[in-house]
Amino acid sequence: MKLALFTMFLGCLLFALGGCSRKSDYTPPSGATGEKIFKGACVQCHTPVGGKVMILKPEMANKEAITERIKNGKGFGMPAFPNLSGDAVQNLVEYVLENSAAR
Ligand code: HEC
Repeated sequence: MKLALFTMFLGCLLFALGGCSRKSDYTPPSGATGEKIFKGACVQCHTPVGGKVMILKPEMANKEAITERIKNGKGFGMPAFPNLSGDAVQNLVEYVLENSAAR
């Protein structure tokens, strides 16, 4: 019993450590639309529900906040996407904003 608890603890710890420096090496194909990038890089975690790709908190529902989140990621869940920049990130952010619900 104690061993099982310890193994669980170790598993969580390793997961958390791995999560600290999460970065995605996703690189968009040139000229990709926002939708194409979303389907390539985001959809595995942000599964659209009822046609909405995401439910945005009010403070996230603008271009600056979403761009920042894509560039830097957040916490253990959301990776940073250092290869998304320029037009690619613009197109993606517009796609996310247009297809999200607000909370
Ligand atoms: C490995 C899974 C994963 C991938 C891939 C991923 N995300 Fe996320 N994303 C998350 C998680 C988990 C959160 C919640 C993080 C938190 O708030 O602590 C999140 C949060 C967000 C938020 C903030 C939403 C809010 O209202 O707080 C935005 C915007 C976002 N992701 C956009 C994207 C975009 C755009 C992509 C593709 C370039 C992407 N994500 C790829 C897991 C992922």
